[in-house]
Amino acid sequence: MSNLPPKKAALPAADGQATPPVGSVATTPSPVAANWRGYLRVGSIVTETPGVKTFRLLASSGDGLLPFTFVPGQFLNVAFSIGGARMNRSYSISSSPTQREYVEFTIKREPRGAVSRHIDDLLKVGDLIEAGGPIGKFTFDGTEAENIVLISAGVGITPMVSITRYLTERSWPGEIFFIYTCRTPADFIFADEVAALQQRNPKLHVAVTSTKAEGTNWKGPRGRLTKELLTQTVPDLASRRIHICGPPTMMDATKAILTELGVPAEQVKSEQFGATKPSPAAAGTTAKATVAASGPLVTFSKNNKSAKIHDGQTVLELSEELSIGIEFSCRVGTCGVCKVKMTSGEVDQAVQDALDADDKANGIILACQAKPKGDIAVEA
Ligand SMILES: Cc1cc2nc3c(=O)[nH]c(=O)nc-3n(C[C@H](O)[C@H](O)[C@H](O)COP(=O)(O)OP(=O)(O)OC[C@H]3O[C@@H](n4cnc5c(N)ncnc54)[C@H](O)[C@@H]3O)c2cc1C
Ligand code: FES
Repeated sequence: MSNLPPKKAALPAADGQATPPVGSVATTPSPVAANWRGYLRVGSIVTETPGVKTFRLLASSGDGLLPFTFVPGQFLNVAFSIGGARMNRSYSISSSPTQREYVEFTIKREPRGAVSRHIDDLLKVGDLIEAGGPIGKFTFDGTEAENIVLISAGVGITPMVSITRYLTERSWPGEIFFIYTCRTPADFIFADEVAALQQRNPKLHVAVTSTKAEGTNWKGPRGRLTKELLTQTVPDLASRRIHICGPPTMMDATKAILTELGVPAEQVKSEQFGATKPSPAAAGTTAKATVAASGPLVTFSKNNKSAKIHDGQTVLELSEELSIGIEFSCRVGTCGVCKVKMTSGEVDQAVQDALDADDKANGIILACQAKPKGDIAVEA
């Protein structure tokens, strides 16, 4: 791919973390190794279901251990140059951290998506991908609870498969309730893998429902996830830790069911796979304001630009109007790509998952979440 460096390009140094010997089963990986940034090489590409492929990524040299470790459920940020624009996206790692020589992404082609179509159409074995991370707190390595309920739909299965693979490989003694919703039976990503894991792990309980099974010989439950399916599959649901990942509508509906079933909100963890609607900037264009803004003044010091912000607008959105060039990926506060330093003022941030204590102490904010409470200045 023309936007990537040549195979022998000098690459940023790895973070130098200790790694177990090749072929050994890793001990619990270190919780966060968020500062690695470099290149990974595409080792193989496998079609999982219509429109969904798994990309195995190796160390850039093509052999040896990966330059980072991760916790199951984490993701990497990747960057591509498409049509002259730099575009960042986040992808959960679907493989297990016990595999130290590769990570896998499982990516759904979005019919009008800028990056997923680019990846699906153009990425080939041997290409280098710019990546950074791992990142994310939507993790489970078996230490957080004695059992786990993993509820996903569509491509939201990726972190759940990483977790299930890892716990099975580690012979984790807890029960895993794996609940998945797919459109047609042919859209069940990792169907064979889940069946194989079930054979190896008697503590793995699987329930899969298909919402469009008409005309097929699907023998499992049909339709959306219901209260009944959940309670039949998971005894004592209200006492368990639950992870949810899927389209926003599915996540909202599932959370509502869980509330109805008396599951305390603090036991439910969820991760949204990005904005529901494409932002104009996501499509590579620049947002344009139509009404004069009257909110606090935002100063982008590196660009020497200031402007008043619209009511409800984020610092990222204002920066796009002014062509400041703050990078972003998820736009929902999880990936950290949009971090900027705020040198004065205060902001509200609805989601701050991507900020750690050091970030907060150093005035780092997430531009995609930041709504100024008064005049602010940021280093951008
Ligand atoms: C933490 C995290 C983990 C993730 N993990 C995964 C993963 O494991 N696998 C995976 O496949 N994805 C994952 N995602 C989602 C991924 O980051 C991208 O958001 C996704 O691939 C879509 O990117 P895109 O550039 O193709 O679409 P974008 O160009 O960003 O478009 C977003 C959506 O809008 C639609 N759209 C675009 N243009 C238009 C238009 N003009 N009119 C109407 N609709 C339009 C697209 O079809 C798409 O659905 C994850 C996201 C996050 C935040
Ligand atoms: S773009 Fe991901 S945290 Fe802001």
